[in-house]
Amino acid sequence: MTSAITIPDAAPGARILAFGDYRPARIVTNDELAETVDTNDEWIRSRVGIAERRIAGDDEGIVELGVHAAGKALANSGLAPSDIDLVILATCSAETPMPGHAAQVAHRLGIEAPGAFDLNAACAGFCYALGTASAAVRAGSARNVLVIGSEKMSQWVDWTDRSTCIIFADGAGAAVVTASETPGIGPVVWGSAGDKYDKIIIDDRNSFIRQEGQAVFRWATSAIAPVALQACERAGVRPEELAAVVPHQANLRIIEAIARKVKASNAIVADDIVQSGNTSGASIPLALSRMIERGDVPSGAPALLVGFGAGLSYAAQVIQIP
Ligand SMILES: CC(C)(COP(=O)(O)OP(=O)(O)OC[C@H]1O[C@@H](n2cnc3c(N)ncnc32)[C@H](O)[C@@H]1OP(=O)(O)O)[C@@H](O)C(=O)NCCC(=O)NCCS
Repeated sequence: MTSAITIPDAAPGARILAFGDYRPARIVTNDELAETVDTNDEWIRSRVGIAERRIAGDDEGIVELGVHAAGKALANSGLAPSDIDLVILATCSAETPMPGHAAQVAHRLGIEAPGAFDLNAACAGFCYALGTASAAVRAGSARNVLVIGSEKMSQWVDWTDRSTCIIFADGAGAAVVTASETPGIGPVVWGSAGDKYDKIIIDDRNSFIRQEGQAVFRWATSAIAPVALQACERAGVRPEELAAVVPHQANLRIIEAIARKVKASNAIVADDIVQSGNTSGASIPLALSRMIERGDVPSGAPALLVGFGAGLSYAAQVIQIP
């Protein structure tokens, strides 16, 4: 005998209620880096677009950074900790492989017994986590999801290697996703290029991040815009309707190249990298949270998120700005 499976709590859509962000207090300028490695402010600004970055203190790990950002997102959402039933934390810079960090962040925020897991899609991690959260809500597996990108890249950087130490930084961003009658998160377009797995890599636990900068640059400036355009198409949003384009904050030249190709003529393009550096899976919510806080983008308007990086992996979706 067979019996039908029902999904009683399935929702027609999911949307983002609020964002939150956290940047560690310590600001490291290009001039400060130039005191220890052979580089200079002009080179870094012109090649990468970074003026300064934030570096976490010894007492601030993935959990601590995540708690700050997620706590702010939760407060901004108006929901109580008890409303959250799933926590997804995207990170690629964890200090330990287990346990995962999501459950600890939840515990610290007073969220009791939620589903909780970490997700590693490197700099595309937040978009992967958001797509997963949206799917969980629409499948009836969760009503309210805390999605966090938390990164402490500084602990995987060789501070004598000028090709990487000028780029990577620390921070966390978060969003609260909720069930909704109308969809506020478009279909995620995701993919990977595993043949290029060694283009950005930490070889083992005793190694630091290394990358083939030019190969990554070429890939990001050619392969990612079509993914972003596909996300717009799948969401039924024309590029000129976008109010914001928020690419992963990898490099200002990459961001500008993607934005040019997307041709979002009325959109503000996120440039949080200038002040925050490349915070990998945290960079998209960090950037968008700040844009919302400043009043740069109107509530309800569509924004394009597009993450890309180590894997190589990438993901994009259009969201409605909360
Ligand atoms: C890393 C990156 C900035 C390097 O810029 P580039 O223009 O490719 O520079 P190159 O590696 O060709 O190096 C050019 C010269 O600058 C030098 N250089 C490298 N880093 C430098 C630094 N921080 N300061 C000064 N000079 C530097 C190189 O040694 C080289 O010198 P040479 O010509 O005497 O040999 C660039 O390749 C890039 O942004 N790639 C994408 C990386 C990225 O976004 N990664 C994250 C993805 S999530």
